[in-house]
Amino acid sequence: MSVVPVAHSQSGTEYGTNVAKYATARHGPDGAMFLDPVFLPNLDNLIGQHVIDIGCGAGPWSVYAANQGAKVFGIDYQMGMLKNAKKAVVDADTDSKITLANADGAALPAADNEFSLALSINVGCNLPNTSTVKVSDPEKSLDYSKEVGFEPHFKEMARVLKEGGRAIVTAPTSFGEVFTRGDKLKTEVVVAIQNELDEIGNSQDSSVIKMHLDKLENVYRATFAWRDDKWVLITDESQLKSGEMIWRKLPGLTVPNFYHNESEYVQAAEKAGLKVTEVHHKLFKTENEREHYNVSASPEKNLGPEYSQEVGGKPPFVVYIFEKPLPSLDSEIRIIGRVTDANSAANVAVDAVKALREQSGGQ
Ligand SMILES: C[S@@+](CC[C@H](N)C(=O)[O-])C[C@H]1O[C@@H](n2cnc3c(N)ncnc32)[C@H](O)[C@@H]1O
Repeated sequence: MSVVPVAHSQSGTEYGTNVAKYATARHGPDGAMFLDPVFLPNLDNLIGQHVIDIGCGAGPWSVYAANQGAKVFGIDYQMGMLKNAKKAVVDADTDSKITLANADGAALPAADNEFSLALSINVGCNLPNTSTVKVSDPEKSLDYSKEVGFEPHFKEMARVLKEGGRAIVTAPTSFGEVFTRGDKLKTEVVVAIQNELDEIGNSQDSSVIKMHLDKLENVYRATFAWRDDKWVLITDESQLKSGEMIWRKLPGLTVPNFYHNESEYVQAAEKAGLKVTEVHHKLFKTENEREHYNVSASPEKNLGPEYSQEVGGKPPFVVYIFEKPLPSLDSEIRIIGRVTDANSAANVAVDAVKALREQSGGQ
């Protein structure tokens, strides 16, 4: 089987042949369990709402939102993902409610204030830091520059949201933690990881990296960065630099990503004019809770102790709910005069009418 190499561009990551696998993996065996309780209530009852799913991938959330009554616009940068999304949309009989388009999350083909809900589900980790690219439009004989990457994605999200609209953004977190299935001692898992890294050596070939890291079946989350001419396992998140290219081993697949920490998400959203209304970190509170979950899940979907707060585990995901604020009433009101008594109230009203006339050109 030939492997299409994974490519990085200034706009994001091309998953190559990973797309088909991602289509079925969704957030991976751990993802749905961790995200759904905080995520799904925000996607309930979307009748009459217009939703944009940015980086829709194979379309799981576009289909979900459509089934909740929304009209959905799903965009993705990769044609491979969109082909899978098209199939999912047709299979779910939601094609009359979902429109798909090939576009960059930093240049959305949509009008300002169009959507009441925006989704960006594990997309930020695909985006490099902001850079400026030159674009040629031969049809209009036009050459221009545009900004792509992490911050422009949030800027675009804010632009297309209606005032009062919400954005649900999810991202991986706890990059210094190795999450496991819990069927091997952590020390054994780390030795197995190191053996695979030794095999990879100084290769930068994505098919070699994937082939080796994919063997680590019981590793559900681990992060690798390029240091001193080789890939190393990250055990302390502060070793990572904003926007640097990393590899991540996830349940059933190995993907290249760009590193952004939690503050970067919040800062990028706030800079774009969005307000943070909720931030969720989900993990089992107790070992008892984790064990209870594992008894009900099939053994290959069990989750290790790293998912439990009681034994010092860390959250695998973070879910942010952002809001585009309604315009504040204060900023809309122009103070024309101050009312001190009944007579001056009448004068202020006359002044206000005069001011409005002047503003509209004396009409
Ligand atoms: C991890 S997948 C998540 C897909 C989907 N949101 C889900 O939850 O299944 C990330 C997606 O972001 C897309 N992506 C990466 N860079 C992008 C960009 N600059 N603009 C739009 N989509 C992008 C990828 O093609 C991929 O489909």
